[in-house]
Amino acid sequence: MTSLPQPPDILSPEFSADPYPAYRILRDHYPLFHHKGTDSYLISRYEDVERAFRDPVFSTDNYAWQIEPAHGGRTLPQMSGREHAVRRALVAPAFRGRELHERLHPLIERNARELIDAFRDAEDVDLVAQFATRLPINVIVDMLGLDRADHDRFHGWYTAVVAFLANLAQDPDVAAAGRRAGAELAGYLRPILRERRAAPGGDLLSRLCTADVDGVRMNDRDITAFVSLLLAAGGETTDKALALTVRNLLARPEQLAAVRADRTLIPAAFAETLRYTPPVQMIMRQPEVDVTLSGGTVPAGATVTCLIGAANRDPRRYARPDAFDVRRAELGATSAFSAAAAHVAFGLGRHFCVGALLARSEVEIGLNQLLDAFPAMGFADGTEPADAGVFTRGPRQLWVRLGTRAAVRTPAGTG
Ligand code: HEM
Repeated sequence: MTSLPQPPDILSPEFSADPYPAYRILRDHYPLFHHKGTDSYLISRYEDVERAFRDPVFSTDNYAWQIEPAHGGRTLPQMSGREHAVRRALVAPAFRGRELHERLHPLIERNARELIDAFRDAEDVDLVAQFATRLPINVIVDMLGLDRADHDRFHGWYTAVVAFLANLAQDPDVAAAGRRAGAELAGYLRPILRERRAAPGGDLLSRLCTADVDGVRMNDRDITAFVSLLLAAGGETTDKALALTVRNLLARPEQLAAVRADRTLIPAAFAETLRYTPPVQMIMRQPEVDVTLSGGTVPAGATVTCLIGAANRDPRRYARPDAFDVRRAELGATSAFSAAAAHVAFGLGRHFCVGALLARSEVEIGLNQLLDAFPAMGFADGTEPADAGVFTRGPRQLWVRLGTRAAVRTPAGTG
């Protein structure tokens, strides 16, 4: 007789070291599990997570306590109905279509080139510190018309704000640092908003300052909270996504060679990275009424933790879910960046990530330039760096040998 495995603890060091075995136990034995440490119901099967993202009965009221105090105001993920639709329609065009191709692509190209130029002649580089954490934030800062010289401050602010969101253990120091970061960012922005209102330019911040939202202008608080959201939502997520895509390919020389030879495979490599190692591993919801999922019923008002990392490896949804495969048929490299995605790394439904296409462009352009500049890059010491983090997850460092072909060892069983 086989005994039931213990339910995993998502606050334990074992989970933090490698959550994927725990996700398997949850999916197979505890598809709906009340986790005491976070007082939330964990859901892990693809069909349940998909339902929680798509079904409006699952409200996003959780963001009122989970992120509003750090942003210092209400933002898109927290809104619903008409308020959400109007605000989203205001900003969404800045992240897609002509704006993306004609305005943002040259900006991404330039930022990626400048970053690479700074280490082009080096022997080894930490691509997390020198590239992945810098490109997305430089792009957003350029979009907003802010000063890139303040990169370290922006990085510090968004890291503290995301840590507030991800504060599963309710550490009071982390909470205080998140609130402080939001307030500092707002203080930094307020004089700039005054200038933009007086003399608007073509940047996104000026457009937000002058935009008409249902007959009213957005106030300082609305805008500073939104900028805080953009830095947090578009910074840490995309920096991890970039590092993860490079790491997943460097660890698999055959797939790296295929992508090098056929660059049209890059979106597929990114989509598979989002499925296999999602940068955002979990997102919360609060159902308005009792809801029955595959493992039982969640009571109205309870917090539900949607385990994206678990859903994206559900064998009920994907063949060979624990293998990384850029040629995976189920994903669809085009739809992977739309609300029709066959993975849940960007959420689904009405809160589907506004920046998905921007993230795709950043990874596509960034990776193309890295592959062009360094025809033989490999891990600096020959080993694959592990991921860290529970709420968001990615390698802390990615030391790469730029010029010589480094030997690559992949731990057994990682696809
Ligand atoms: C690979 C990179 C990214 C990942 C994995 C990611 C992930 C997500 C997820 C999971 C959500 C859904 C949240 C929910 O349903 O509660 C979301 C929403 C959002 N993302 Fe992203 N994101 C990425 C890049 C970006 C970028 C580059 C931006 C903009 C600069 C951005 C801006 C937003 C915004 C504004 C929302 C809220 C949308 C709404 O509530 O309607 N994201 N993202």
